[in-house]
Amino acid sequence: MKYFIITGASKGLGEGIALELLHEDHHLLCVSRNESQELKTMATAKNCQVDFFAFDLAFNQDIPRLCQLIFEKIDTAAATGIYLINNAGVIKPVDRVENCPPEEVETHLRVNLIAPMVLTIELMKRIRDLPIQKRILNISSGAATNPYYGWSSYCTGKAGLDMFSRCVATEQQDEKYPVESMGVAPGIIDTGMQTTIRGTSEEQFIHRKKFVELKETGQLIPPTLAGKRLASLLLSSDFKNGGIIDIRESY
Ligand SMILES: NC(=O)c1ccc[n+]([C@@H]2O[C@H](COP(=O)([O-])OP(=O)(O)OC[C@H]3O[C@@H](n4cnc5c(N)ncnc54)[C@H](OP(=O)(O)O)[C@@H]3O)[C@@H](O)[C@H]2O)c1
Repeated sequence: MKYFIITGASKGLGEGIALELLHEDHHLLCVSRNESQELKTMATAKNCQVDFFAFDLAFNQDIPRLCQLIFEKIDTAAATGIYLINNAGVIKPVDRVENCPPEEVETHLRVNLIAPMVLTIELMKRIRDLPIQKRILNISSGAATNPYYGWSSYCTGKAGLDMFSRCVATEQQDEKYPVESMGVAPGIIDTGMQTTIRGTSEEQFIHRKKFVELKETGQLIPPTLAGKRLASLLLSSDFKNGGIIDIRESY
């Protein structure tokens, strides 16, 4: 049995990845505030076990307890692979730095950066000695390397996540049974996050028009297609420990 802990599988890209991983030998453990009815229905049809953990990842201090509950569902002795997909994320606050409310910046970084770090810590403590495939896929963004006007929290969080991913990889590379970690920027995907971006003003985000245009000209990538690419990368030999890649040109 392969176990997949997926954050943010209730919609968007995370749901796209989860739908692609539905298989009778897989068990999906999904963390978000809401559930995906489509994922549950499809899971039943494909005879795949899916558990949803209703959880707000901004509450970093409760993540160790959440992981305890998740691991009650994992039979580590029977596991052939354990995977963590740090996908959940938010874009707000979108505005010039001096206009961002500090409490929104803090919540943003709790969800986009600290939660993936704490989940990684809790996972690694529990699976360190398991002689099986162990992988962490961190969903990155072009914003990790390019500063966008109005996206200071998002760019900072994603840059931090990339570096965390590389640090984990560095520590693990000489382990007998390493936990492999990779960061992947998926391209511009047609999800709720894009709706939020189009809903900002030109003053808050000067590239807004370009994003509206991408939607209107059908250039956004469907989350199911991006999910397919990411799920297949996660299980393939192309998954490279320490890699940080952008797959936007691959569609
Ligand atoms: N869309 C793009 O163009 C694009 C491009 C590059 C990278 N990405 C990255 O892709 C990932 C997924 O984004 P998306 O575009 O699919 O956005 P989305 O449609 O808004 O979905 C975000 C997901 O994250 C979850 N989430 C948000 N806040 C949460 C919280 N406090 N606690 C628990 N779960 C939370 C949401 O679940 P609930 O609301 O149910 O909690 C939802 O499942 C993000 O990391 C994003 O940065 C997206």
